Amino acid sequence: MKFYHNISKLYTPIGFTRAKGALAMGQIREITNAAILTDDDGLIEAVGTYAEVAVKLAAAPWSPDAINCRGLVALPGFVDSHTHAVFMGERSMEFGLRAEGRSYQEIAQAGGGIRSSVEQVRGATAEQIADYSRKYILSALKLGTTTLEVKSGYGLTAESELALLQAAAQLGRETPMEIHTTFLGAHAVPKGVTQADYVHQVIHDQLPKVVKQNAAAFCDVFCDEGYFTNQETREILLAAENSGLKLRMHADELADTGGASLAVELRAYSADHLLKVSDAGIQALAASDRTIATLLPTTALSLRAPYAPARSLIDAGAAVAIATDCNPGSSMTENMQFVMTLAVIGMQMSVQEALTAATLNGSAALGLERTHGTLELGKRADFVLYDIPSLAYLPYHIAVSDVISVIKNGMIVSGEQL
Ligand code: NIG
Ligand code: FE
Repeated sequence: MKFYHNISKLYTPIGFTRAKGALAMGQIREITNAAILTDDDGLIEAVGTYAEVAVKLAAAPWSPDAINCRGLVALPGFVDSHTHAVFMGERSMEFGLRAEGRSYQEIAQAGGGIRSSVEQVRGATAEQIADYSRKYILSALKLGTTTLEVKSGYGLTAESELALLQAAAQLGRETPMEIHTTFLGAHAVPKGVTQADYVHQVIHDQLPKVVKQNAAAFCDVFCDEGYFTNQETREILLAAENSGLKLRMHADELADTGGASLAVELRAYSADHLLKVSDAGIQALAASDRTIATLLPTTALSLRAPYAPARSLIDAGAAVAIATDCNPGSSMTENMQFVMTLAVIGMQMSVQEALTAATLNGSAALGLERTHGTLELGKRADFVLYDIPSLAYLPYHIAVSDVISVIKNGMIVSGEQL
């Protein structure tokens, strides 16, 4: 049990459900001279002004550890709901080629891209993959992310996909980061296999093994031009749903295939990327009470593509989340503070909307909105202390981290011990 006090300002979205549209996403509670009391299960026992929390404290039969937060500012930990952060082999060479004008698709066709990561992952054990990826997970934690989704998709055989998922689970046990796993066997078709045979393998070989080992909570498909068709996506996701997995989708990134509408129809938890989403797709997302529109602005930046239409989505009434898409090809970052910067500068989101997108709506994309994503009574005590004078300073301070300490389940797990 811990009593965090002397928090100059606390900012948090509010609610135990997704925030849809501009009004809900823009609502941020601001508490001056705040305190947080956490219980032994790592949940928030009380949160409010110092005076409010002190009343709770006086009534308690125990005296908790008091932690002086030195006037720092508290925000909920980021929930990064879309990453491929467990992999082998960086791809800075491709970054150089893109700088010379080659496109992501051209590089993929020449043997780079996802398939080149696959070559590095195959033959590696789960242990080796975890060893390689640990530093990125710890770096994300240091930058204020307390819950992270990780996808497979660089193995493309049952054995290697499982190794990636096992590595992610291992890192979830070994580090303070809370990790949720997604099976993305349908990320690309590996060399030497036909498209139809590969879809068959995903459904009849990989998926049953992933389910049997309980290795993933979600199934995702890279539904896009040159990757998997809407029909293939539907088949794979329906099979996954029948096996008890929850669904998500890479949709309308490289081309508008109607992916967003398909995600809504299949009741996927999220439709991700959406750089090319159509008006019909925007309307479908706005009408959904399930599917979060997850936008990944560092990917657009990295691919030199126009940003997703965040404003149209939010104004139409969709629930928007933002995430890093951390991966060695199209988005080499684990910095959610910088993703907020791009959401504001590049996608015209308000500072308040960007915070909601990076916390509460990220948690909803993982089905965790009742327990994560805001600083409210009964939720997980996952918060970050920053050396900033205001909420807007966070995205305003470009590409620099202002994190001082990261608290997961009520404990300081990264940064300064106060
Ligand atoms: O989300 N869009 C598909 N997959 C990744 C890229 C993976 C890679 O290039 O390694 C993405 O951007
Ligand atoms: Fe992705």
